[in-house]
Amino acid sequence: MRFFSVENSLFLNKITKPVKSLIIGSSGQIGTELAKALREKYGYENVITSDIVEKNHPPYFYLADATDKNAVKEIILKEEVEEIYVMAAVLSAKAEQFPGRAWQINMQILFNLLDLFKEGYFKKLFWPSSIAVFGPHTPKHNTPQYTVTDPDSVYGISKLAGERWVEYYFEKYGLDVRSLRYPGVISWKVQPGGGTTDYAIEMFHYALRGEKYVSYIAPDEPLPMIYIDDAIQATLQLMEAPPEHIKVRSSYNLAGISFTPAQLVEAIRKYIPGFQVDYKPDFRQEIAHSWPDSVDDAFARQDWGWQHRFDLEDIVKEMLTNLQQHFYQDHDLIIG
Ligand code: SER
Repeated sequence: MRFFSVENSLFLNKITKPVKSLIIGSSGQIGTELAKALREKYGYENVITSDIVEKNHPPYFYLADATDKNAVKEIILKEEVEEIYVMAAVLSAKAEQFPGRAWQINMQILFNLLDLFKEGYFKKLFWPSSIAVFGPHTPKHNTPQYTVTDPDSVYGISKLAGERWVEYYFEKYGLDVRSLRYPGVISWKVQPGGGTTDYAIEMFHYALRGEKYVSYIAPDEPLPMIYIDDAIQATLQLMEAPPEHIKVRSSYNLAGISFTPAQLVEAIRKYIPGFQVDYKPDFRQEIAHSWPDSVDDAFARQDWGWQHRFDLEDIVKEMLTNLQQHFYQDHDLIIG
């Protein structure tokens, strides 16, 4: 268990008190599973959740808008929160439709937290970044940790700006910030909303329903992806690592695997041979094309022992089995 020690002057022995976490955006794709994992590990009551969508229940859940600084402050004070995970953001595809609003939301949430940290309300922050910080001039293959970052999506610009700000707060004010550049996250419990990499998840749903899928990403466009269990594992590992091991305070490259839509279709067809796909690339293809094909996460592997577990074959098996069992029991079993 993760505890910090408090010297007790009366008894001169150490009293331990669990660290309380707050997840902002706990009803979303990553937030939902992060809450479950943290609660299993550290106790239900030590993980406070909040979202603008009410999918959880009180106690320990707060319906709150993270762009409202006072709302976040109240939760921190009431629950004595010490570390915060920010899993709320407007993702890449959606952000292109509402650029000003997306920038405002993504940056406001971060600045509220930076302010609250500076005012002494909490100590440690997990702030997610993304492969979206890379752009058209970034080396595409095995993209290094330190390289050209010239994002041309609003989401990518907000993530890159965020990376610079969190590192600045680490350097100037000692914020214990930890961050990952998540690749596309593949999961079955909660669907993501508005991402470029969401096509991969949609394919599984269409395949299981026996429907034809029209992909907005071109068949030969590789993108870095990761299975949700690996993404959660990386997040926990990074947050638990001793501070002196964290050498990157902007955001760590994180890799699982890379595949193209055509490769995913082929892997799904091993189980559902009749799965039909058409391709109609749209503006999301341009975003995807500006992102890396694969990333080099050597720093994460060296600094805090990161190693992914799920390869394409494992992900396909996990996705089809879980989706079938939890969402498509009533559909005829078409897994061959
Ligand atoms: N999965 C995200 C998106 O597609 C990338 O961080 O927007």
